Amino acid sequence: MSSTIIAVANQKGGVGKTTTSVNLSATLAKAGHKTLLVDLDPQANATSGVGIEKREGKSVYPVLLGEGKLEDFVIETQWENLSLIPGELDMCGADIEIPKLGGDHLIHLKNALMPLAEKAEYDFIIIDCPPSLSILTLNAFVSARWLVIPLQCEYFALEGISMIMRVHAQIKDSGLNPDLELLGVLMTMFDGRTRLAQQVVSEVQEYLGEKVFETMIPRAIRLAEAPSFGKPIQYYDPHSAGASAYSLLADEILVRLSSRK
Ligand SMILES: Nc1ncnc2c1ncn2[C@@H]1O[C@H](COP(=O)(O)OP(=O)(O)OP(=O)(O)O)[C@@H](O)[C@H]1O
Ligand SMILES: [Mg+2]
Repeated sequence: MSSTIIAVANQKGGVGKTTTSVNLSATLAKAGHKTLLVDLDPQANATSGVGIEKREGKSVYPVLLGEGKLEDFVIETQWENLSLIPGELDMCGADIEIPKLGGDHLIHLKNALMPLAEKAEYDFIIIDCPPSLSILTLNAFVSARWLVIPLQCEYFALEGISMIMRVHAQIKDSGLNPDLELLGVLMTMFDGRTRLAQQVVSEVQEYLGEKVFETMIPRAIRLAEAPSFGKPIQYYDPHSAGASAYSLLADEILVRLSSRK
């Protein structure tokens, strides 16, 4: 059995990709699943979110450019069962540098991840994507078995999802990754007190049906604070609403995975 690889993606910025990647990873890890979080975003927010300092040359990027083995870039975090491949600013050169390598420039991350995934040292590999459909994100789409798409509960939430779905279909049809499936769409920053949030959720559910996770992530100040302490929510405030929401999400994901292997 190889590792289960999940890409957390949405080309829209600020919708909760990193918050979800960090907290889903840490929650699965704390529950006993060995997890590797891959920070594929030059902003490197997932890296600082788990308490690791950004350092030049210490990211997946050199490996994407054909230098070294990915496993040499893995860092153990201080959180149980959670390892990280950090991100760093240099990765913003990916769209220019990777095509220069020639060959198929969407396959580099997959080639780098495969030896690690096949060793199955990790139960889960979770990839935090940048807010674009750039070469980095497409590399994640080619590497992953599953996609998780966070959608912020606001107007226009659905706008843009058709773009991801189209790219998803192209990646499948091109033969680059015929196995890629949408694991689920996650409603984030839900504020049940507003009619708007409820309207958005029903609209999204109407459009996407059971693709939408039952678990919704509430808008919660503790979730927004935790990254500045470099702590996943399960360690920053394990009894908060945000921590319970990410626990429920992890459970829901485990159930979905066991029924759709
Ligand atoms: N459920 C939540 N409740 C409150 N604040 C949240 C929640 N989820 C995310 N945030 C905050 O919203 C901002 C954007 O979240 P996050 O960084 O996870 O989004 P992103 O999609 O990764 O952004 P980017 O596209 O820039 O990578 C951050 O400041 C984060 O702390
Ligand atoms: Mg992010």
